[in-house]
Amino acid sequence: MAGREQAIIAEGLRKTYGAKKALNGLNMTVPSGTVHGVLGPNGAGKTTFVRTLATLLRVEGGRAQVAGIDVARHPDEVRRRIGLLGQAAALDEDLSGRQNLELFGRLHHLGARRAAARAGELLERFGLADTGRKPVKAYSGGMRRRLDLAVSLIIHPQILFLDEPTAGLDPRGRTEVWNAVRSLVGGGTTVLLTTQYLEEADQLADRISLIDSGRVIADGTADELKAKVGGDRIEVVVHDAGQVAAAAAVLAGIPGVGAVDRDEDGRRVSAPVADRMGALTRVVRTLEDAGIEVEDLAVRRPTLDEVFMQLTGGDHEEESA
Ligand SMILES: Nc1ncnc2c1ncn2[C@@H]1O[C@H](COP(=O)(O)OP(=O)(O)OP(=O)(O)O)[C@@H](O)[C@H]1O
Ligand SMILES: [Mg+2]
Repeated sequence: MAGREQAIIAEGLRKTYGAKKALNGLNMTVPSGTVHGVLGPNGAGKTTFVRTLATLLRVEGGRAQVAGIDVARHPDEVRRRIGLLGQAAALDEDLSGRQNLELFGRLHHLGARRAAARAGELLERFGLADTGRKPVKAYSGGMRRRLDLAVSLIIHPQILFLDEPTAGLDPRGRTEVWNAVRSLVGGGTTVLLTTQYLEEADQLADRISLIDSGRVIADGTADELKAKVGGDRIEVVVHDAGQVAAAAAVLAGIPGVGAVDRDEDGRRVSAPVADRMGALTRVVRTLEDAGIEVEDLAVRRPTLDEVFMQLTGGDHEEESA
């Protein structure tokens, strides 16, 4: 492909389990060297999608290319270029982190010496060097997930699939994994990451696809997705409840400010705004000119949670089908 190189292309992917359409015409493109977040609720099709791209599930309909290679036609070629961190990892509990890594290295035909060297390198990189000899069953959740990540990197993959890499971790473990993922991207690895955590997609991903019922329902940067549900809102709390009507009238008269909501008995008015900084300055100035005393004023951006609720109608088809 000329110009911008695509690490992943999915076109109209389909997969059914009985009557359930796990993938229902899924389209996605991921440019090389970027982090792409796939965000969706339980049962949305995230794992099915990742396993299809990673050649673990057969392509039933549509087409997928990974690193420019057709997944259905040349699965071995694809496998040589990818790493996969699955939802349930396959570590040997009784072996140490180092032993697990060496084992996976040998499984990938690295040879004893190269496997040992690579294990040492990866333990170092993920801050596991000191614990490399402890059995995995003694690891914390965060350490274990970092070891999973190290395992998935054994062969220097061009493209890395992470299926819910921080599920079940406490905030500290999550931060550790996030930092580990960030450190990969500098090296040019393309990452496709699934998550149910909106914050995680917001933190790590260059672009995000929201999926539900086996298809993409929206995509873009976190900012673009937030803008889709009406963007920012300005909220003004007036000091004196008697001035709330005046404040609403002032707001309504300002260019770039949308329909004003008024809190009936309260002292709060709010409205959508197109240009957050511009609107904020104009609102402050105009209220002041009108002699309205303001107690609090803020511009609030919708969270990705709100975006998701709005786009899926807050109601997921999962398990009702
Ligand atoms: N092996 C299977 N047999 C039957 N149905 C399946 C199988 N695997 C997945 N499904 C169904 O396909 C749909 C998509 O499942 P998938 O595991 O891809 O979702 P997910 O987005 O990864 O969910 P989660 O967040 O729970 O991991 C679900 O309705 C699920 O019940
Ligand atoms: Mg899953």
